[in-house]
Formats: sequence, structure tokens, C-alpha cells
Amino acid sequence: MNDAPALTALANNAVYAEAVQLAVDSAAAYYADGTSTLDDDAYDRLVRGIAAYEDDHPDEVLPGSPTGKVAGGAVVGDVPHLVPMLSLDNVFGPDQLAKWAASLERRLGRPVEAWSVEPKLDGLAISARYREGRLVQLVTRGDGTAGEDVSHAIGTIVGLPDRLVHPNTIELRGEVMMTTVQFEEACAKRQAHDGTTFANPRSAAAGTLRAQDRPYVCELTFFGYGALPYPDDTSEFAARLRELPHSDVMAWVAGQGVQTTAATPVAGIRAFTIEQVQARVEEIAAARPTLEFGIDGIVVKCDLAADQAAAGFSSRAPRWATAYKLPATEKITKLLAVEWNTGRTGIIAPRAVLEPVELDGSIVTYATLHNAADIGRRGLMLGDSVVVYKAGDVIPRVEAPVVHLRTGEEQPIAIPGVCPSCGDAIDASQERWRCVRGRACRAIASIQYAAGRDQLDIETLADTRIRQMLEAGLIADFADLFFLTREQILGLERMGEVSTDKLLAALEQAKARPLSRVFCALGVRGTGRSMSRRIARHFVTMDAIRAADAEAIQQIEGIGPEKSPVIVAELSELAPVIDKLVAAGVNMTEPGVTLAGQVAEAGAKVAALPLAGMSVVVTGAMSGPLEALSRNKVNELIERAGGKASSSVSAKTSLLVAGEKAGSKRAKAESLGVRILTPEEFAKLVTDAL
Ligand code: IVH
Repeated sequence: MNDAPALTALANNAVYAEAVQLAVDSAAAYYADGTSTLDDDAYDRLVRGIAAYEDDHPDEVLPGSPTGKVAGGAVVGDVPHLVPMLSLDNVFGPDQLAKWAASLERRLGRPVEAWSVEPKLDGLAISARYREGRLVQLVTRGDGTAGEDVSHAIGTIVGLPDRLVHPNTIELRGEVMMTTVQFEEACAKRQAHDGTTFANPRSAAAGTLRAQDRPYVCELTFFGYGALPYPDDTSEFAARLRELPHSDVMAWVAGQGVQTTAATPVAGIRAFTIEQVQARVEEIAAARPTLEFGIDGIVVKCDLAADQAAAGFSSRAPRWATAYKLPATEKITKLLAVEWNTGRTGIIAPRAVLEPVELDGSIVTYATLHNAADIGRRGLMLGDSVVVYKAGDVIPRVEAPVVHLRTGEEQPIAIPGVCPSCGDAIDASQERWRCVRGRACRAIASIQYAAGRDQLDIETLADTRIRQMLEAGLIADFADLFFLTREQILGLERMGEVSTDKLLAALEQAKARPLSRVFCALGVRGTGRSMSRRIARHFVTMDAIRAADAEAIQQIEGIGPEKSPVIVAELSELAPVIDKLVAAGVNMTEPGVTLAGQVAEAGAKVAALPLAGMSVVVTGAMSGPLEALSRNKVNELIERAGGKASSSVSAKTSLLVAGEKAGSKRAKAESLGVRILTPEEFAKLVTDAL
């Protein structure tokens, strides 16, 4: 819930005391089993509010206050740590990062020679004690001074071997978490066992790490982020390790067969200026939605042992490191209603209406609920507090209800008995429910889509006309449009000679559209405009697409083993429509673009294309030769020139085309040193070569 007192808003001592109690309870629940009445963001705000009040009223500070304590002072374990396990201070944005670095350098009296930049893994800190190469004990962070023994989990954690490559005595530190796949497996196991699921990967990992006698075993993952010789270790090996830069320590850890983030897209790197640090921060942030595991920030550390030693520690956190926080991707909000809609393809999908909540930089009001079975599995009810997830471009989704926040007022979610669009029966044989009429149920929507600007672009075909034609039985799908006679069209109400001829001419033009657009017009589930272009460019003809099996379709970037069978099934369902299009003489090959495709296939001069291998972002208003082009058309042009069109600027961006009124994307590109062209320069670059 997001009604935690806002920052600095604690009005008086009573409100302060209440806030402290709320934070203490919440931290206790969070560290006990990963559940909490507050999401991370609300907890952060609450503690910052408490800290602000305490700054102004130092004589009123309560002994139980969470400020200045590791884990909010929540947990006490009984295994003392050999070296305290501390927290990290936070920065929120480039300015604060630069300020932090500057003040650290002032304290050191010299520039920091090298930084290490790595993901902040969103799991639980753990200490793994090895003796002569054997894993002997696992201890949670606890209150930082002492933690809980969770050695029973040894053997269930991927990436944390029982034996190191060399028989060293060492303490490893890192994060225990669940990858997306492990989380899904864990939810399925728990579902089968007691009908419940876990709220999110973090709490699933927390619960699993502590669970001693569950009848089912869930797998966990470990990523190491540090190694410490035991404090009493006077060996030469220990002395050498203490002197190594952090990045070399991590390379050594990986060499011992322990998992680090080195093999992931967000591997820790060394940076030598704060600008380089910031650039890596942006890269990691951009990669976040694609990762197989959760991260909630970026950790920036002094890389050299000498810098770390000179910077030292405060009571709570090292001064040589900070956490650059990323916006929350998960929050708790209220499920207000569930709407059921039948989509273009006849799929009936529930959608959650939420109390608006800010997630990863945007306000979320709706979220997907997948399907009816999923609602049942999760045991959702109207009025529930629910965990909602959204990162990057992903569609927001409801993860789970927060059962312990129930008030008793929650109501069951009504599940429709008939198609909400046409009232016909529901085919519930698959998890994804569908109207028994399939695409025909929403024929208007699918024909509108096919005729749309980015598909067949049949400009003169108004929605009312489509409706008339459907009602008159002249058409059942968009392929039938190409068989309409002049007389049939003229026979429609309020259809004159001129508009009839215009429509016929538009249909004639539509027949000549490239395969990518014809394919897109089919509205195959799981394929949009850019995927349709990729498919058309790869296969070049409709015959080749139809001949492809699931495996062949997986050759295309962005199509995995889940999507490919859906596409194959859709194509077989759409066979009658495709046959009609062929019979009508609609173009079934990819012209022009085939050039690039064939060149690529021949393994020859792909590099000769002006944008080969480049990732291009377009922003602002287009001018010059590009002025009249829609964004989709400009993207087509980029792809034809061998590039990849992308919507957001990251360190991977090769080129930004910035027109008038280009805003934040331009600023970001500048800060990352990305090459920037005007629309005119860009037009010249691509058209000269094509
Ligand atoms: S280094 C002395 N590196 O963040 C503390 N911590 O807020 C040094 N964490 O307890 C910690 N990823 O659980 C470090 N790459 C990383 C991390 C990381 C996640 C967690 C860790 C720590 C918490 C501090």
C-alpha cells in the first residue's frame, strides 16, 4: 500500500512514534519470510520520513527506530559474523552519484583511480563459509552482526558449489535469489502442494532459504559479489587477496567455480571516470527488463583495496560504495475491478483495474491478469491489495494478492459464462479462453486492423462501411474485400459512384503491399509490425512462411519456443484467409527488402548496408525528405538499411536521429556520447546507399 507517511510529513511526536512502529513491524515481516505490509518503495519513504523527523528532533529519537540500523534492526540471528555484514547508502540519480563521488574523493584527498560497477541483486545477502575448499556453513545477514544458520540449504543453491576448485579457506558473500524460471517452478510446486503461490521471487527466495521441512524442494541461485579471508588468517594467500582490487577478487571467485554476474548482460565492469560509471548505470538499467533475475539498483564501489581501506566505514555502511537505486518495478496497490474483453483474435482476457500507482517511471492503472485459471490459482479477490509488476516496456501484470492485508470486505471476482463481446459460448478447453466464433467474433476489429495505416493502408474504408458489409453478408474477413464487385459496393447505403471507385482503386493498391504488411494484416497472435517485418524478411515469400515449422520460425530473433507453436497454429487457422488473398492476387513476396535478406543469406556484403549492425533511435519531429513519413515508415527505412530500430536510448544505441523538439532522448544520447544526426543528414546517409 502506498499510504505510508510521505517524506518529511511527520507532523508530531505521536505520528513519528506510529511511523516507527509501522517500520519495525514491516521490517520484521520482510526479513522473517519476505512478506510485508509495505512495498520497498513505501518502506524507503517511511524510513526517510522518520530520519527527517529525527534530524529535526534529535531528543525524541526512539530506541526502536529503524534508522541507522542494518535491516531496520529487524532480525537477530545466533551466528556471529566474522566481519559485520553492512548495508549500502543510496543515491537517486546522476547528480547525487557525482556528489557522492566528489565527497569521497575529498575525504581521500585524491581521485579514485578505478570504480567497479555492478548490478544490485534483489535477493538476500548470505555469507558462505568455506574451509579448505569445502562449504561448511551458510549464514544469513540477520542484523549485520549475527545471522541465522541456514546450512540446510547447501546443495539446493545453483552457483554455490560444495567445493571450490582450490582448497581455500575463505568467506564468500553474495546474494541468494530465484531466477524467473526457478520462481515459476517454485510457484507451481507450492500450488500443487497447498494451493498458494509466492508473492515475488524475493520473498520466494527468503521463504525457501529458511524452510527446513517442506515436503518439496525449490531451487535457488547464488551470485557472489565479494570474498573475505577470515580475519585471523595470516597466510600469504589471505594477505595477497586483501591487496587485490575488487575486480580481480571477483575474477578469482569465478575461477573457483562460483557464479558471479560475469556471464550475464549486466556483468560488473571497471570504470575510470564517474561519466563512465554513469554510462554503465544506464546500460544496466536498460538491460533490467530482459534479465532472468531481479535487480533493484547498481552498486558502485572503489575498485582498489587501498581506496577502500582509506575510505573506511560508517556504522551502517561502507563509505567506499553506494547503491544507485532504480525506480521500483513492483508495488502494492488495490485491485478495484476486473474487466473482460474479447480481443481481435477472439481471445477473452481479463484486465485488472487498479488504484493508480507509479511504477518504473509511469502511472499504471490497468494490468494484465492472463486468464481465468490464473485468477483462480492466485486466489485473487476484488478489493485485494495486490503486488503489481512493470519494468521497461513490459505490460504491467498483477503478481499476487497480499493475503495478510485482507479486511474481510473482499469479494469474489465474477467469471463470465459467455463471450463478453457477442454473448456466444466460450471455448474454455485451453487456459486462454476464446469465443467459440474465434476471429469472426470481433470481425470488425480484425478487418479495421488489417486495413490500418501500417498494414494494408486502405484509407477510404471507414468503420461504418466495414460494419455495413459484414451485416450485408458481403464479407466475413478482410480477404473477402478483394472479391467485392462494383455493383455490390454501389448497392450499399450512401455509397456513390465516386467513393466506390475510390475504394476499388484503394483495394487495387493494397494488393501490391509488401509481404511484411500483408502478413501483419493477418493479425497473427504474438506478431506486431516489426516482428512481421522480421518474418517477411527472413522467409521472403508467404509459401516459405507457411512451410516453416515451429523450429524454423524460432530462427527469428524474438521468437522463442513458447511463441513459435502459437504462430504455426495461427497460420493454419488463417489458411482459408491466406488462400483467398492468394486467389485475389495479393502480393505474397517481400520486395526490395529481399535484397538485404538475400545479401545476408549469401553471407556477403551485409556490412555494405549503411546501417549494418547499428541500433538506431528516432526522436522529435521529422523534417526534409523524412517529413511525411510516419514513425513506422522511418523504422522500415532503418531496417531496410540494415539497422535495428529501437525506441529507447542506451549505451547500445549507435545513432540517434533527432528532429525538432527532441527532448530527453537527445540529452541522454549526448551524455552517452551517442552519434546524433538531423533528419536531413540521416536521409542522406540511408538514401545515398540504398
Ligand atoms: S556489496 C558492505 N554488492 O545490497 C556491504 N551488495 O544494501 C557491501 N547487494 O546486503 C555489499 N548486490 O544484500 C554488494 N553487487 C552487490 C550487491 C549487494 C546486492 C545487497 C546485499 C547487501 C545490500 C546492501
